[in-house]
This record gives sequence, structure tokens and C-alpha cells, in this order.
Amino acid sequence: MHDDDLLSPENLRNPHPLFARMRRERPVHWNSRYRAWIVTRHVDVLRGLRDPGLSSDRVGALLQTAAPGTAGRQALELLSGWMVFKDPPDHTRLRKLVSKSFTSRAVTHIQGRIDGIVGELLDRCEAKGRFDLVEDIAFPLPTMVIAELLGAPVSDRERFRTWSDEISPIVFGSFDAASRRTAAEGAILNFADYFSHLVRRYEANPCDNLVSALIEARDSRDALSHDEVIATCMLLLFAGHETTTNLIGNGAYHLLSHPEQLRRLKADPALAALAVEESLRFDGPSKIVVRLAAQRLEYGDAVFEPGQRVFLVQASANRDDEVFANPDEFDIGRSPNPHIGFGFGIHFCLGAPLARSEAHAVFASLFKRFPSLSLVQDEVAWEPVLLSRGILSLPVTFSQSNQGVLS
Ligand code: HEM
Repeated sequence: MHDDDLLSPENLRNPHPLFARMRRERPVHWNSRYRAWIVTRHVDVLRGLRDPGLSSDRVGALLQTAAPGTAGRQALELLSGWMVFKDPPDHTRLRKLVSKSFTSRAVTHIQGRIDGIVGELLDRCEAKGRFDLVEDIAFPLPTMVIAELLGAPVSDRERFRTWSDEISPIVFGSFDAASRRTAAEGAILNFADYFSHLVRRYEANPCDNLVSALIEARDSRDALSHDEVIATCMLLLFAGHETTTNLIGNGAYHLLSHPEQLRRLKADPALAALAVEESLRFDGPSKIVVRLAAQRLEYGDAVFEPGQRVFLVQASANRDDEVFANPDEFDIGRSPNPHIGFGFGIHFCLGAPLARSEAHAVFASLFKRFPSLSLVQDEVAWEPVLLSRGILSLPVTFSQSNQGVLS
């Protein structure tokens, strides 16, 4: 079990039997394939997320070894401005300033637009007759929402997708090929350049959008610098779309493959909010968060030495039977549901209200519009990545005759 391949076809398709075995037999163990401690029980993952001895600064060490004046160094400097890679007190300051403009605006200002965009996307799907739930709904919705929120042209969304895809390996720490690393560095620089222009535009002409709000964000003594606004825009765009795509895609897949749960949702659409939470728990988009031991730490009989990587496995914690009754059952009425799909503690996902509201808008309207919606095939392909979990495509079909009628 020590060197299990989390990316084997079997574990990509369904990692949960392996995680269950880990929780039972070696809840905290070293995996030399990934050079990381694997932490699997809810109680330990929660401890890890709260532990000041575990650092979020995964970029600092790389930065120290990057040659001065290179594109690689510049790219890492930009990434080091992302709050998700910072520890207190820098993290505390940045998060406070960003939260001021982001949290309330994100959901209250945009709720009506989210419903409108979902309606437009469903119209297009209806016209097609058969569609791909990932490509046609789960992907475009979050990108359109975050672009509108920031004040970036929605028509640039294919660029955002390309850059985000290219950045993923560097953010998730898996540079297996030098060419991918070079592409990632290039994408970071292009992304920053794009936002630098956008920020300059709104510095000169403030508008009612998030970029302008970030520029204005200040408290009595402090404000975000130009570079911090750029770094934050990149982070929001990167963090805000693929994760939400995967929440909608994974959740819809499990609803469609659990007919009795789907019937409950159709009979009582008010269950949509709980169905979003259960989707985050049962097969959420964030499988693992990574930390670095900043000091010697003991977790049970495991000893983390300074500098060692620690994988806090949310996907496993969310199926822990010490916390959840019948954890392998997908139950859209589950309440309370103390999942940690959005993390926990000081780095708890800043975009959680936005992601919840987008997924809710889809789950509440998709099955009303297409009551006969069904999967074209039972098996789906999962993205071959370590830290997140998402379906590559989800072809679905519906019969034209019973649209709009609750079955
Ligand atoms: C279902 C969708 C989402 C999931 C599952 C998710 C998951 C997470 C997780 C697990 C963390 C904590 C990372 C850590 O502890 O190292 C996090 C942080 C963060 N997320 Fe999300 N996220 C989602 C959507 C969003 C959205 C829509 C946005 C913004 C538009 C966003 C912005 C952020 C930011 C800024 C942070 C960093 C917070 C900090 O470091 O204090 N996320 N997210």
C-alpha cells in the first residue's frame, strides 16, 4: 500500500476503495512514488488544515532555486502572490483585503446573471437535442460568471481555458516534462500581461466590477498593490472555473446514475442545496490539498520532517465512517454534512458561496427543463490528475416529448 499509484486506471475510475483501505490500515503513511505523507482520516485531515506547522508556501522553495532573470523565475514570483500559497501574516492581510470586495459582491450582484446564463445554456442544449453536460453547461457557466464578475470580456473565455490548462501542472506541482513546465511558465506570463492591461484600464476608468473593487480595496492603512490585484485576478479566474465545472459535472453524473436520488430531487426541488453539498462530499472536485511541513510534527506514529510534503486527502476524509453514516451512499438529503470539500480553516475557499450558487442554479433547473435526461453511457472518463477530480465529458440525451413536465 505504501507506494500506491493514485493515478492508476482503477484508482482514477474510483479511488474510494483504496482510500477506505488506507483509513483502516495505515491512516498516515509515506508514499515514495509521490514523495509525500498521505493523510486519510477526517480527524487528521482537519487537524492538518488547521495546523500552523504545515505551510501553504509551496512556491518559496522553488523560487529560491530558480535562476534570476529567467521566465521561470518571473512566473514563480507571480504565483507567490497568490494567497493560497501564503502563510500568515501575509496571507491574513491579503485575504482580508480581497474578501472585502469579493465575498458579498460575488453572490449578491451576480445571482440574477447566474440564473440568466443557466437559462441561455439550457436553451442552446434544448435546440441541440442531445448534448454534453460538461462541455455545454458545466464548463461555460463558471467561466462566463467569473469573467463577467471581474469585468473581462466573456468572449476571451477560450484563452482563459488554454492558460488555465497550461498552468495546472505548475500549480499542482507535477512537472513531469520540461515542455509542460515551459508552457506553464509562458501561460502565467501571458495571463499576467492580460490582467495587467485590464487593471490599467479600470485604474483609469473604474466600473462596477470586481477588478475595480480590488483596485479600490483598502482599509485604514493598507491597499492592494498593482501586482497584488493582478495576482488575485489570476487566482480567482484559475480557482473559480475548473473546480466549479467539476462540481457540476461530477454532481450531475452521480444524480443521473442514482435514479432514486434524482426522483427525490425532481419531487422536491428544494433539495437542490443539499444535493450540492452531497456532491461535494461524495465525489468533490478537490481530492487532495498539499502542505509542506514547516517543522517536525508527529501524526500518530508518523513523523513529518521539515520540508516534507503532506497530502491532506479530502476525498478520503469525506468518506470516513467515523463522521458520516453510510459514507459510500449518495444521499441528497444528508444533513448535517460536515464535508471538507472546500477545505477548512484560514484557507477555506473564498469562492464557496459563488460555486454553491452556480451548482444550485444548474441542479434546480436542469431536471425541470429535461425531466427525461439520461446518460448516453454509464462509464465516464476521469481527468488523469492527482489533486482534483473531474469528468472529461458527459454526453446526455432527453426525449423531446416530455420536456417541462415533472416526471
Ligand atoms: C466547487 C468549486 C470549488 C472548490 C471545490 C474549491 C476548493 C477550494 C479549496 C479546497 C481551497 C483550499 C485550498 C487550501 O487549503 O490550500 C480553496 C481555496 C480558494 N478558492 Fe476555491 N474552490 C471552488 C471554487 C472557487 C471559486 C468559484 C472561487 C473564486 C471565484 C474560488 C477561489 C478560491 C480562493 C481565492 C482560494 C484561496 C483562499 C485562501 O488561500 O485563503 N474557489 N478552494
